[in-house]
Amino acid sequence: MLSEKIQSKFTMSSKLTETLQLPCGATLKNRLGKSAMSENMGSRGYTSNEKFNRLYTRWAEGGIGLLITGNVMVDRFALGEAHNVVIEQGIQDANLPLWAAAGKKEGTHIWVQLNHPGKQSPKFLSKEPVAPSAIPLKKPLDRLFNTPRALSEEEILDIIARFGYAAKVCKESGFTGVQIHGAHGYLVSQFLSPTHNQREDRWGGSLENRMRFVKEVYLAILREVGDSFPVGIKLNSADFQKGGFTQEDSMEVVKHLSDLGMDLIEISGGTYESPAMMGAAQKESTKTREAYFLTYCEEVRKLVKSPLMLTGGFRSAEGMNAALASGACDVIGIARSLAIHPDFPNQLLSGASDKSQVKPLTTGWKFLDKTFPLEIIWYTDQLHLMGEGKEPNLKKSALGSVWTMVYKLGKNAIKKVR
Ligand SMILES: Cc1cc2nc3c(=O)[nH]c(=O)nc-3n(C[C@H](O)[C@H](O)[C@H](O)COP(=O)(O)O)c2cc1C
Repeated sequence: MLSEKIQSKFTMSSKLTETLQLPCGATLKNRLGKSAMSENMGSRGYTSNEKFNRLYTRWAEGGIGLLITGNVMVDRFALGEAHNVVIEQGIQDANLPLWAAAGKKEGTHIWVQLNHPGKQSPKFLSKEPVAPSAIPLKKPLDRLFNTPRALSEEEILDIIARFGYAAKVCKESGFTGVQIHGAHGYLVSQFLSPTHNQREDRWGGSLENRMRFVKEVYLAILREVGDSFPVGIKLNSADFQKGGFTQEDSMEVVKHLSDLGMDLIEISGGTYESPAMMGAAQKESTKTREAYFLTYCEEVRKLVKSPLMLTGGFRSAEGMNAALASGACDVIGIARSLAIHPDFPNQLLSGASDKSQVKPLTTGWKFLDKTFPLEIIWYTDQLHLMGEGKEPNLKKSALGSVWTMVYKLGKNAIKKVR
């Protein structure tokens, strides 16, 4: 007779190993999804390269059911970070099919996250970024980002078409799906926010108008890829800013997108101005339940049929299984744990390991911790190691990663964003 502990472990792992059929008909082999992490590894000319192939082979072999790539931009003149990959007319990326093939090993799904940063394109990359309205990011971020220019109707339509084109290229290159980045304060999320979108035309004002952009982006993608190719979206539960995109607004948007047939809605939250996605706004109750946005996800579940992926804070098999068992979400989104432990999914699924080794980072100096986006720098450094065919290095100091990234990407790579 199995002991109670082993029995409960077995029941837990069986939840994670269940397959999931998406509305478009595609099936994910298990309930673990890698959430997007920007690789910052693109070549000159905005293309992907063999480092992406190595990194994604590592992850596919690690047992995850769904890989969502780091954000890929739809316009070379609107980058979120240095070394982004861009998919747009005129850029030929011969490596894309190899990247897709690497991520598809072991029957894994690999979806490309498509993004336009809007005003969240730093000064060293954009002299004049674009946004729904000409409203700058608030202090102290206004030192790093120029005041944006409001988009014209023609430009809005052009960006929508760019998302469609990029999705078509992804499908033709062998990727098995795409995800719209509608979270974290980038362009889609700027359109949804009453603070950042103060337009008086059909793209602003009422929630119906503010969500027009994301709906048109989705429809443009569907026109290009058809309805049997998975299309998902990452959305904010809220912006965590006064006067911003609220949980009520967010629920309405989720409901609309679900009714339109979205295959997977990933729940996150926060913006550069209030980075809740990295755990910044955690309450005590959240700490016990691990996932930062679980309570919100439970509410959304009551409203929509689309499969839900919940991301942010998951660290243990117990926390993941509790979230799945409650029915709040269908897929567990994991990011940082996979940057240091690419085999974590296999270990979770087999029961060999049930805890991630993600820990808070510090340089040992409060001033430096506040100045640099340590989480982003250290984890990006780990992705680069795997891209170079090396093992992640958990012993590497936060300060060591700061120096490595300055050396590799230039001092602009370590400015405090996201
Ligand atoms: C290095 C790094 C890069 C990231 N890049 C992206 C990105 O390109 N797109 C995105 O939606 N989220 C990005 N994120 C946020 C993660 O997808 C995720 O929402 C967040 O890390 C919380 O999940 P976790 O607690 O499992 O790490 C990034 C996070 C890290 C650490």
